[in-house]
Amino acid sequence: MVTPFLPDDQKIPALREALPSTAAGIYLNTGTAGPLPRETAHAMAEAEAWELRTGRADIHHYQDSLERMAEARAAVAAVLGTDPSHIALTHATTDGMNVAAWAVDWKPGDRVVTTSLEHAGGLGPLWALRERGGVELVIADVGTGGDPVAILEALDRAVVPGTRLVALSHVTWATGARLPIGEIAELAHSRGALVAVDGAQSVGAVPVSVEELGVDFYAIPGQKWLLGPEGIGAVYCAGSVLDRPRTTFAGYWSFESIDLAAKGKLWPDARRFEGSGYHGPSVVGLARSAAWLSMFVGLGWIHERIARMAGAAASMLADVPGVEVLTPTANMAGLVTFRIAGWKSSAALKELSQRTLCIARTIPPLDAIRISVGFFNTDGELRRFRDGVALVAENTPDTIPHRPRIEVLQGGVD
Ligand SMILES: Cc1ncc(COP(=O)(O)O)c(C=O)c1O
Repeated sequence: MVTPFLPDDQKIPALREALPSTAAGIYLNTGTAGPLPRETAHAMAEAEAWELRTGRADIHHYQDSLERMAEARAAVAAVLGTDPSHIALTHATTDGMNVAAWAVDWKPGDRVVTTSLEHAGGLGPLWALRERGGVELVIADVGTGGDPVAILEALDRAVVPGTRLVALSHVTWATGARLPIGEIAELAHSRGALVAVDGAQSVGAVPVSVEELGVDFYAIPGQKWLLGPEGIGAVYCAGSVLDRPRTTFAGYWSFESIDLAAKGKLWPDARRFEGSGYHGPSVVGLARSAAWLSMFVGLGWIHERIARMAGAAASMLADVPGVEVLTPTANMAGLVTFRIAGWKSSAALKELSQRTLCIARTIPPLDAIRISVGFFNTDGELRRFRDGVALVAENTPDTIPHRPRIEVLQGGVD
């Protein structure tokens, strides 16, 4: 077991041992899906084995599911700095953003405001609002997200009377900018709009206190910086949205009671936003990963280390001739996005993956490469990655040296 109190030179190897896929290459893509802790995989396997042995249909299993869901809400609430009664389980960040988008009692002509840096998971529900309900969708241009004053000015212009919802990311998926959510929430509320935040790239990477931020909804995934399973997530719902029964998906888990005449009493807490179809082992996995991070790794330590390592990665890359870092380093989180002059991002990433065994991704709309720096990454990994980037940047796709052929590496095939 890893404790939060080990010195880093012992703690990092212990954490990497507890996260087996960190040995599969230079793991730089937590922003897509983080490495699963061994402990989470065990807990999920145990839950599956139990289901296989005993079935999933007896009353004890049902009681157990209720407890597991309560544990998962509590583990997420602890990470987000709120009470479990404000947490609804979902299947993804996207689900949470849909819960928020459809919680408003929309009228034709109402306005929803977002930014020019949103992921389809947050933008999709707004697109649907515009297509289905005649809601006006306004996209405030926030550039790369690096100038908080310009961001607030852009939102100040966009959030005019008639705006019912401001929906945006805490940390943007494309440039990795951390947006000034607290100030934005104040602005939106002063104009009568609710605020829904896409927390896919923030929770588990930077400190998040939903109550201090003062937002109405905060949607998170299991699989990214919380290092949990896929197919499970959560959404924080403030008191401001719990007194209005606007649920999108309502089902078995939403009601305290419902009769055959559809007379229903929704749960007074955030469970009213839960529908159905939670995969038991994934519920267990989310709870285990979130609790593992808070109790055994230490959230404060995680946030501090990610800030330091991601900052170091950004400045290392910026020092490589031919590299342009797009991430605003004054307000970044764990993501670093960059371009290499003379290279398409997909071709450059292919070279980097083959030469350094890095696991990263491209951001197609920016034709850029994005790395995610986790607490488990080491200085040595970042230097190896930087050296690979330097080699690519010194060359063009035509001049880059060929790698030795596989059969030569393997000693030849006669
Ligand atoms: C900012 C952002 N929002 C939403 C998503 C979608 O997340 P999910 O798959 O949990 O819906 C992602 C990543 O996939 C993301 O980076």
